[in-house]
Amino acid sequence: MQNFEYCNPVNIVFGKGQIAKLAELVPADAKILMVYGGGSIKHNGVYDQVKKALEGRTVLEFGGIEPNPKYETCMKAVEICKSEGIDFLLSVGGGSTLDGTKFIAAASKYTATDDPWDICAKLIPVTEEIPIGCVITLPATGSEMNGWSVVSRLSTDEKLGFWSAASFPKFSILDPETTMSLPERQTINGIIDTFVHVCEQYVTRPANTPVQDRQAEGVLLTLIEEGPKVLANPKDYDARANLMWAASTGLNGWMAKGCVEDWGTHAIGHEITALTGTDHGKTLALVMPALWKYLRKEKEAKLLQYAERVWGITGDDKDAVIDAVIEKTVEFFRSLGCDATRTAYGVTDEIIEKIVLVFERRGAKITECAIGAHEVGEVLKLCAK
Ligand code: NZQ
Ligand code: ZN
Repeated sequence: MQNFEYCNPVNIVFGKGQIAKLAELVPADAKILMVYGGGSIKHNGVYDQVKKALEGRTVLEFGGIEPNPKYETCMKAVEICKSEGIDFLLSVGGGSTLDGTKFIAAASKYTATDDPWDICAKLIPVTEEIPIGCVITLPATGSEMNGWSVVSRLSTDEKLGFWSAASFPKFSILDPETTMSLPERQTINGIIDTFVHVCEQYVTRPANTPVQDRQAEGVLLTLIEEGPKVLANPKDYDARANLMWAASTGLNGWMAKGCVEDWGTHAIGHEITALTGTDHGKTLALVMPALWKYLRKEKEAKLLQYAERVWGITGDDKDAVIDAVIEKTVEFFRSLGCDATRTAYGVTDEIIEKIVLVFERRGAKITECAIGAHEVGEVLKLCAK
């Protein structure tokens, strides 16, 4: 196992009716900016629950954070934070709202350069943020239990992430009932996003990490069991609850510690979203099988372990087992209703060229094998047509 340091400071408040706990979780004298998305919280009762819990408090509101939150929108909220002296940010919604809130929290206190976009573009370390709390309504990103944020800039077609210890929410409320109003498409995206998060920490190369491997396998098996239950019966509270906890534990950092990580599928997927607007989860379903095909030798040991322990696929012919498990993974995504193809998402040869240029310009090496721009192009060509 590799050396590591780790501390996850998020106070998780999980279960039915827990939004009422906001009253005790948010500091009594805080001037709060409640940040939300396009309005789902006004249709499913979450907005009313939050307002009730915070009755009598000073709460300003900022709605309109988009899926794949935009820098341009977040900067409008930064103006409010500065002019109103906001000292607590409450994110209510999905991962995009929370990621946007993390950027707003960091950008409001940012002084290192003229443009807070440098936090993402130049990875200027964030030292101070407005404290954040969150009510998460979409199990997918794990943002409620990590320090990551991913923000897009319209003017440059970029989608970039940053991590900061200051970005961990002070608390995250996870009420599975809030997820019952999710459109099926978002439930599917969430299952796939979680699945791929786990794979990016697990299907790499062995590092003598049996605890973390079994954590990963536990979450994958849970998604395989519980995902179809939720799609068959969206009001199944227990299955919703299990998906929600799977998403949070899938990207709270525990199972990656001491392991070799990949994150190539995410790096490529973010560029597809930036250029085509394809949902985050769908880009991952498209890219991961292709990346596994491309790196099948490098990932051989873990692909074989994944095949045996998660899908029960074994055999003497290693290549045949790897082919079978890649196909099984694609079938799983398809069974959820995600038939990911380049054609469906507009990933044309021209888009592939643009993505290769982005990686060339950045000079970035991705995956545990440190592949570069040329290889990214090869992976994209291997994606299902
Ligand atoms: O905007 P509203 O009206 O709230 O509607 C949202 C949005 O349209 C809707 N929604 C959310 N909760 C709902 C609901 N509709 C009905 N009922 C509910 N309970 O769902 C739509 C999608 O929401 P969004 O927040 O965009 O989805 P998700 O949580 O999947 O977040 C995706 C973003 O997170 C980033 C992705 O790149 C993408 O930008 N990621 C963040 C990560 C992190 N911070 O650690 C890691 C991930 O890998 C990912 O990159
Ligand atoms: Zn993701």
